[in-house]
Amino acid sequence: MTAPSDIEALRARVRARPLPRHVAIIMDGNGRWAEARGLPRVAGHREGSASVRAVAREARAVGVEALTLYALSVQNLARPPHEVRALMELLAEFLESERREIMDNGIRLAAIGDLDRLPGAVRSRLDALCAESRGNRGMVLTLALSYDGREELAQAARRAARRLAPGDIDAAALEAELWTAGLPELDLMVRTSGERRISNFLLWQCAYAELAFVETLWPDFRERELLEVLADFQGRERRFGLTGAQVRGAVDP
Ligand code: IPE
Ligand code: IPE
Ligand code: MG
Repeated sequence: MTAPSDIEALRARVRARPLPRHVAIIMDGNGRWAEARGLPRVAGHREGSASVRAVAREARAVGVEALTLYALSVQNLARPPHEVRALMELLAEFLESERREIMDNGIRLAAIGDLDRLPGAVRSRLDALCAESRGNRGMVLTLALSYDGREELAQAARRAARRLAPGDIDAAALEAELWTAGLPELDLMVRTSGERRISNFLLWQCAYAELAFVETLWPDFRERELLEVLADFQGRERRFGLTGAQVRGAVDP
């Protein structure tokens, strides 16, 4: 347990240095968190919702511009029906309980994925809160729901092909058709729970993102854990293919 003053010192340190503009998180490990306690998996998803709240609030407080959370993949929809139902109920609850927090903190809510596959009750709350928060300028909180990274690329290709001749479809044209168009470039992708894979998340966008794999299970990932990955990011040197000397502005030996 970190004392409150420690977390404040860490927060101050993180705030004093350049932040990633866009952070994405693969929120994994809810099931294992519950199973380790002899609880049903759904209990892990519930505790995971509290982490979403805490992490979004902290990201906003330190000044991250865009936070994109992998909440549900298309593949997750093939889980046992009772688990999928519980996830949808939690999502509906979250959209209800966080409405005030989102509006009061100037957060703009967005959603990416095949949203037509969400139940009507979830979809209508989601659409309503996205519309209500559209004018907010604090931080963009994007929920990836029923999301499939390869499908995002396929639809970008289809849309670009409708607009352009094949020879005119370049990287910028495809990027403009991604669901994340308009968000800052992805700087940092975090995955919790010790797994070291991308699981079909933001396949294009992670091209030059820094990757952070942490052992903490998502329900245990809160303010302090977010600050720690941000601090770790701030200690890295991003080279984008150049030499270290080039990015540091030094003359090559
Ligand atoms: C992540 O936790 C939440 C979703 C995928 C919806 P998991 O449910 O995948 O938890 P583990 O990986 O089984 O522990
Ligand atoms: C990725 O986690 C999806 C979300 C966190 C929403 P999974 O638990 O579905 O990924 P795999 O199955 O371990 O690759
Ligand atoms: Mg998992």
